[in-house]
Amino acid sequence: MATIMDGKALSLKLKEQMKQRIEQLKQQGINPKLVVVLVGDNSASQVYVRNKHKSCGEVGIESEVITMPEQTTQQELLEVVERLNQDETVDGILVQLPLPKQIDEKTVLRSILPEKDVDGFHPVNVGLLSIGDECFAPATPSGIIAMFQEYGIDIAGKNCVVIGRSNIVGKPMAALLLKNNATVTICHSKTEDLASYTRRADVVIVATGRRHTLTAEMVKEGAVVVDVGMNRNEQGKLCGDVDYEEVKEKASFITPVPGGVGPMTITELLENTIQAAQRHHRAEK
Ligand code: GUN
Repeated sequence: MATIMDGKALSLKLKEQMKQRIEQLKQQGINPKLVVVLVGDNSASQVYVRNKHKSCGEVGIESEVITMPEQTTQQELLEVVERLNQDETVDGILVQLPLPKQIDEKTVLRSILPEKDVDGFHPVNVGLLSIGDECFAPATPSGIIAMFQEYGIDIAGKNCVVIGRSNIVGKPMAALLLKNNATVTICHSKTEDLASYTRRADVVIVATGRRHTLTAEMVKEGAVVVDVGMNRNEQGKLCGDVDYEEVKEKASFITPVPGGVGPMTITELLENTIQAAQRHHRAEK
């Protein structure tokens, strides 16, 4: 029976520590501020953005949500981003994805100043991450590394398999694992015989957005299993990409859904915003 990695509890603990750090920063005249831009009426995005705003308030980060209508043009959005790039009081900018279809996501993400790109999606930050330099790393993979640290899981030299190759999770996850000296394999929807990779893995990170991607037969006894999925089952209940009930009997550590990776994602966004404010302040001096 696995140890459950409690992302909710760790997130609360880290947020308590952040509160104190932010109080100290404010005494030095540093007031971290995040602006989230939400375009359109995607209901999941609305929930995510509300949670980000609420979490900022909890730790003392100033946050503003700019909502723009579904019909917003790319030019209108680029103008808002440019205004935020120029605004000295803004440390972090996050444009919530997905964007309406008339707007090119790549163009918008590239328009955010890399030093305000707390999502870590700008190609400059992606490049810095890939060479292992200081940068903003995407929040979900950073949150997973923070969980490993909390639970004393040393991944150096370990055989880590990432399932999923998205720019938001899979690819940056692989880069962070490599930075932490793991041996990394990325599997994806075209991988042949997925189980032959996962059965040999010491750590499996699943980010496919498909239920039942990882079943108990696919996991080695004692493996560490991280579930990034967020799906609904037939009863409408939240569930991940892993067959949790069966896999937890074989794994040594496992993350639940909900209450695993999800809460850690927001915590790392807050962490990136604090760091953006600190770097911004240093750059001004
Ligand atoms: N949509 C889903 N996850 C994310 C995220 O981490 N950042 C942004 N900007 N949009 C998202």
